[in-house]
Amino acid sequence: MKVGIDKMHFASSHLYVDMTELARARGAEPDKYLIGIGQAQMAVIPPSQDIVTLAANAAYPMLTQADIDAIDLLIVGTESGIDNSKASAIYVAHLLGLNRRCRTIEMKEACYAGTAGVQLAQEHVRVHPDKKALVIGADIARYGLNTPGEPTQGGGAVAMLISADPQVLALGTDSTLLSQDVMDFWRPLYRSEALVDGKYSSNIYVDYFQDVFKGYLSGTKTRAEDLTALVFHLPYTKMGLKALRSALPMVSETKQEAWVAHFECARKLNRQVGNLYTGSLYLSLLSQLLTDPELQAGNELGLFSYGSGAEGEFYTGIIQPDYLKGIDLGLPQRLARRRRVDVATYEKCFNQQLAWEATDQTIDYHTDPHRFVLIGQRDEQRQYLDQWA
Ligand code: HMG
Repeated sequence: MKVGIDKMHFASSHLYVDMTELARARGAEPDKYLIGIGQAQMAVIPPSQDIVTLAANAAYPMLTQADIDAIDLLIVGTESGIDNSKASAIYVAHLLGLNRRCRTIEMKEACYAGTAGVQLAQEHVRVHPDKKALVIGADIARYGLNTPGEPTQGGGAVAMLISADPQVLALGTDSTLLSQDVMDFWRPLYRSEALVDGKYSSNIYVDYFQDVFKGYLSGTKTRAEDLTALVFHLPYTKMGLKALRSALPMVSETKQEAWVAHFECARKLNRQVGNLYTGSLYLSLLSQLLTDPELQAGNELGLFSYGSGAEGEFYTGIIQPDYLKGIDLGLPQRLARRRRVDVATYEKCFNQQLAWEATDQTIDYHTDPHRFVLIGQRDEQRQYLDQWA
């Protein structure tokens, strides 16, 4: 039985900052951000969006009533949690009108948790093929203004419906994992911005990729040459390029050229959004599927997921004949229609997130065009609004 991704949809902000402008404001050469980091634009998340609204906004456009009736598992992977006890997934299930008989949980392991969700969901569907699982990776990447990590911020959510007989990608059941205690990136409970050893984290990422990729090839019948393209978690798009380059000596010259060309498509949309932690690998998969003219049904993709701390996984999937029917076809146009804001506005948005304190707070959401918005906090409870209701 085939099980995998049946539908995929993305949501982020309607605002972005241009990386040339940000580089100039920080006294950096624009090419450092554009080429050295590999980012052209960065999503600016307004205070009216958090992981709950991003997740719900990502999922609702792709769900039919039949999907909602069949979903009995919702997993939100995130490292931008809004509560230490209650799962963001409960809020998301409510906003989406999901079935009450649904296992509804939040998962955490840095950027890796989205993949943990996908793998657990595929195992669930293999046992219950008449059911569907909704997996959403939702995050807001925050390092702080004027920090080395700043050009690798961003945010958004990717929602994936996992089902039997999927339209988009049939997932393999083999995978190779690596999980060890590494202090490359972390965020203590008292901080809203991550702590990171940037260069170390980038080196660990490549080491993890090499380990799980080689482990996968030696433990399965798959040869590197069989893989049409490699799709990576993209904290910044140069990171994926570095990992890809580390794998090129393993394949023929023709395959090397093909992999590099496919990668340019896989990073196209991530260049415009920035890091979205748990969703980054899956935005890159969407980018591959939406913008790669050489892709065909039957092609096998290799997927590398990495979460600091650190956990990595390599697995594969086969593109299905109807893949274009299951993906977010309007995404490139939506990104092109976003409003560019100047650096001062980006900084204001960055500092205006709901404060981590007990006071009642209101958020001006009136210019946010998204269906689900965060409008404030009352009696220590976050207040969400469906603007269509
Ligand atoms: P930095 O120190 O400001 O940058 O931080 P740099 O000096 O290393 O320069 C970056 C690159 O730009 C270099 O290229 C320069 O040569 C180049 P590289 O040597 O890396 O190939 N450069 C130029 N290129 C063209 N023209 C120029 C120019 N000037 C310089 N004029 C760093 C960079 C990525 C370390 C920083 O932004 C950072 O700390 N980011 C956050 C950490 C991160 O993203 N790590 C990635 C791996 S960990 C991961 O993926 C997990 C994560 O997503 C979290 C999670 O799991 O939850 C982060």
